[in-house]
Amino acid sequence: MKPLKVAIIGCGNIFPMHAASVMERVDAELVAVCDVKKERADEKAEQLQVKAYYKVEQLFDEEVLDVVHICLPHHLHAPVTWEATRRKIHVLTEKPMAINYPDAERMIKEAKANDVTLGVIFQNRYNPGSQLIKTMLTNGELGAVKSGKLSVTWDRSDAYYEQSDWKGTWDKEGGGVIIDQAIHTMDLMRWFVDSELSYVDASISNRAHEIIEVEDAAEGVIAYQNGVVTAFHAINYYTYDAPVEIELHCEHGVAKMVADKATVTLTDGRSFIADHNPLETFTYDSGVKGYWGVSHVKQINNFYDVIRGEATLDVPAEEALKTQQMINAIYQSGHEKQRITF
Ligand SMILES: NC(=O)c1ccc[n+]([C@@H]2O[C@H](COP(=O)([O-])OP(=O)(O)OC[C@H]3O[C@@H](n4cnc5c(N)ncnc54)[C@H](O)[C@@H]3O)[C@@H](O)[C@H]2O)c1
Repeated sequence: MKPLKVAIIGCGNIFPMHAASVMERVDAELVAVCDVKKERADEKAEQLQVKAYYKVEQLFDEEVLDVVHICLPHHLHAPVTWEATRRKIHVLTEKPMAINYPDAERMIKEAKANDVTLGVIFQNRYNPGSQLIKTMLTNGELGAVKSGKLSVTWDRSDAYYEQSDWKGTWDKEGGGVIIDQAIHTMDLMRWFVDSELSYVDASISNRAHEIIEVEDAAEGVIAYQNGVVTAFHAINYYTYDAPVEIELHCEHGVAKMVADKATVTLTDGRSFIADHNPLETFTYDSGVKGYWGVSHVKQINNFYDVIRGEATLDVPAEEALKTQQMINAIYQSGHEKQRITF
């Protein structure tokens, strides 16, 4: 089997999850990394014994690639995807898909037109807790969802934003706590409810940061065409990353997730729990093992299996697009101070 030639673009925080996943696959060969910050690209290239590039165009011009992983600031996900798909290269991009809906829509259109696979990372769908709730909704044990609520209260201080040249800006990050941190939890809720959007009514504000343009607080409702109304509350001015919480009130019970641990309590008295499998670990550059990263590996494996024709995407790009639509509707509703109806 000829190995797929792979490059990772963006050598920042999330790079190790992608690099380790590619290195583990026998049918993929990491040939290059790319980052405008020369020292970052050089360090990763040396560590992994691959070529370093400092410009995306040069990477595309000089390497014959089958796959690129996009680990870039949000505003670059769409243009780099378009360039890659134009060159018939499969793309796996980090969340969010893009910073606006039309760009994300065009990513799908161009991937289809060029017959390449487009994947978008939403790794939390692979967590055992998420899988338990989704399975019990799909097999009918929980019955129909009646309502839901979620809360994300994390810590992204001014000091955190000071370290980044793109976070905290509308043009590069595309938003704050919603598009960057709460997006995973919002995506899970939408996946659980599994219905088209009906309306979004939200407020956004910057309440506790000095140096960012974007929202550090958002709350509102996401209403779905099946009649379910869900509430969300997200802030990133808390003093630690408190466990995220999702609760679904369903016909036959309540499903609750705290951090990644799900507890389903049925009205007939049975209860089910799912959490991390302690035998599953991800080893970081430093040699330290942890759970964070395990679900990335699973999603990246699925992406490569799809390219090999052995699977279908667990998270189709069309699914990521719906989450993009929801996120952008929160921003539109917040800015215009009115309900956005679909
Ligand atoms: N799935 C998750 O849980 C998760 C977690 C963290 C980050 N992310 C996502 O990963 C992406 C990257 O985030 P991060 O925290 O690693 O950011 P980061 O700032 O640490 O890394 C981004 C890198 O891209 C480089 N870069 C910027 N412009 C470039 C260009 N034109 N060409 C080449 N390189 C360029 C920067 O120099 C930087 O090294 C974002 O989409 C983020 O939301 C996802």
